[in-house]
Amino acid sequence: MIDVQGVSHVYPDGTRALDRVDLLIPDGDRLAIIGQNGSGKSTLVRHFNGLLRPTEGRVLLDGRPTADRRVAALAARVGLAFQDPDRQIFAGRVRTEVAFGPRNLGLRGAALETAVSGALASVGLVEQAERNPYDLGFSSRKLLALASVLAMGTPTVVFDEPTTGQDLRGAERIQAIVAELAAAGRTVIAISHDMRFVAESFARVVVMRAGRVILDGTPAEVFAEANWEELAGTYVEPPLAARIGARLGLGSTPTDGALIEALVGRSA
Ligand SMILES: Nc1ncnc2c1ncn2[C@@H]1O[C@H](COP(=O)(O)OP(=O)(O)OP(=O)(O)O)[C@@H](O)[C@H]1O
Ligand SMILES: [Mg+2]
Repeated sequence: MIDVQGVSHVYPDGTRALDRVDLLIPDGDRLAIIGQNGSGKSTLVRHFNGLLRPTEGRVLLDGRPTADRRVAALAARVGLAFQDPDRQIFAGRVRTEVAFGPRNLGLRGAALETAVSGALASVGLVEQAERNPYDLGFSSRKLLALASVLAMGTPTVVFDEPTTGQDLRGAERIQAIVAELAAAGRTVIAISHDMRFVAESFARVVVMRAGRVILDGTPAEVFAEANWEELAGTYVEPPLAARIGARLGLGSTPTDGALIEALVGRSA
């Protein structure tokens, strides 16, 4: 469980990126964090694994403040795939990059090999295993950053804008990864600007604006018409399905099937 209690974060240049955030994330939660650029999403998740420490307030991980724990211990609990893969990737070979995390957790031999191959297979980079990460395109480097986190098998995984730069196939892979992790009972947290991905893959949505949490609920609750003005205030447009669903009286998270039936009838 991650328990964020009254956390503010002020960067050295004086930017107040988080302003007294309270947020409880139970084990097994499937949480999307959304909100305008600069609203503090990345700053918030960097507190979950101790990469950043609160200026005020505290973050409890399984009941113990992250401030009292070593980064290595936190890394075994919470894996974070960075928004910018180039700030995460450092190895000269894809396989070495993916092996780094699990090796640090003590995996060796066949167990290490299984973790690495499994992670590479999940993101579809098996054939690129011997290549230099910097010879891959941006979308593949994003997937590599994700694989490096998956390979660690942490109980909680955090993906900072995983679908950015992905084509349909990449986006579908990421949706499948989220579903698999959730089915295995792991806690999955993702930051995203892709509202369809958010509505379809997550059970809970937290909306941020100017360093604060302004909405927190299921996708149906958060994307309900009553919140559209508030969402617009942080430059979030509800997913198309929510906008059509509201007009047709189908609610804010209609299925594709319900939408098609309402729009063109069962015969289509
Ligand atoms: N290292 C840093 N030093 C100073 N200010 C920073 C630093 N990193 C982020 N900020 C500032 O803190 C605020 C929150 O940034 P953050 O990256 O957490 O937002 P975000 O919601 O993740 O945005 P985006 O959607 O663009 O990724 C912004 O004003 C940003 O400019
Ligand atoms: Mg960010």
